[in-house]
Amino acid sequence: MIELTMAEVEDQIRGCKLCDLSRTRTNAVPGEGSRSAEIMFIGEAPGFHEDRNGEPFVGAAGKFLNEMLESIDLDRSSVYITNVVKCRPPGNRDPLPDEIAACSTYIDRQIELINPKVVVTLGRFSMSRWFPKERISRIHGRPQRFGDITVVPMYHPAAALHQGSLRATIEADMKKLPQIVAQMQAEEDEREDPDSEQMRLF
Ligand code: URA
Ligand code: SF4
Repeated sequence: MIELTMAEVEDQIRGCKLCDLSRTRTNAVPGEGSRSAEIMFIGEAPGFHEDRNGEPFVGAAGKFLNEMLESIDLDRSSVYITNVVKCRPPGNRDPLPDEIAACSTYIDRQIELINPKVVVTLGRFSMSRWFPKERISRIHGRPQRFGDITVVPMYHPAAALHQGSLRATIEADMKKLPQIVAQMQAEEDEREDPDSEQMRLF
């Protein structure tokens, strides 16, 4: 198979008709941000505003995500943000298994192209790609390695809008990210210079 560039992947997504969500969407939402991002955020699916704009996380959940990023001095443009499913499910219903499956080649290639140090899954649909049987209440904020990538599951920011107490939980999990990225960087440096002493945090 020919390997697509990010621009090509994004173009394919915009014109994609691989599942029935293509019939009801206004715009497919490929994702946005830095193509050399160290951190990639993967949400669930576009909502009303994202479908209108063609950009991820621009509604209320997006505003909260922006605040969370600012709290750790990260700008949206320095990370990459996308979703498991690129087109809005009607009425914001949950994405169906066959829609997630149809869309999966896009996220696979996006992860491969960005090659982030850390993937943050936002919500259970994104989490279940790596942790199919887990409960988010048990594993949120806990980094786990999958080859070169460390995955940190987090609650979906929209959950905090419905359940205020989750706000502090998401905030606390976000605050762990800089240290996790630093740890991954230190290990990379160590591989290049095996004599240097490194502390292992997780
Ligand atoms: N919720 C998501 O999961 N993704 C978006 O892009 C917006 C809201
Ligand atoms: Fe294609 Fe994914 Fe949109 Fe379905 S959700 S039409 S697979 S881009």
